Amino acid sequence: MAIQTNAEEFRQFFPEVDLIQDASLRQGVIDIWMELAAETSWERFEDIPKNLTHEKHMTLIGHISGVTKQAISMADISEKLHGVTVDRDLLIAACLLHDISKPLESEHDPGGPPSGGSVPPAKKTEFGAKIQHGVYGAHKIWAKNLPRATEIAHLVITHTRASNTRSMSYEAALLFYADWADSDAGIVKGGGAPFAAKWVEEK
Ligand SMILES: [Fe+2]
Repeated sequence: MAIQTNAEEFRQFFPEVDLIQDASLRQGVIDIWMELAAETSWERFEDIPKNLTHEKHMTLIGHISGVTKQAISMADISEKLHGVTVDRDLLIAACLLHDISKPLESEHDPGGPPSGGSVPPAKKTEFGAKIQHGVYGAHKIWAKNLPRATEIAHLVITHTRASNTRSMSYEAALLFYADWADSDAGIVKGGGAPFAAKWVEEK
């Protein structure tokens, strides 16, 4: 099974894609999403959960939309107030692609516990259990030969705590914090402890 979709529907979910100035990067982001739509076992983007724990009620597309919007808002404020320069093409492409592996990490679980929201019951796939988050996104970025592929793959890989590689770039920081802030919105609503509460000082 797969998701029947097209670039027009993608633009309705993520209008920020058109803020990407580089036409081939913009098209590459859309093309990767269309490939994942064909590869997933889900039949609607709206049914894919963001995660399977406290955020299981949160949709993946809602989360990615939240991360992208929050990262852009932070970029606007940082540029205006602090004079920091943000590479918008890099930031927006990375936000839209950072969780692109998630349509393969879960599958519908008829009869499973309810999510507490509009998302149907779901369980982890073999792919989700065996392949580190972020890796497949990087693979897609290189396979599609996206402009600045290594920079974008770097942001996708470093956004997750599953990775032992961190980034020094400000675009990565914006993606990282936007991802945590948006995740915490779903976790708190789901009754869990936010990531912020788990922050511990390194010894
Ligand atoms: Fe995320």
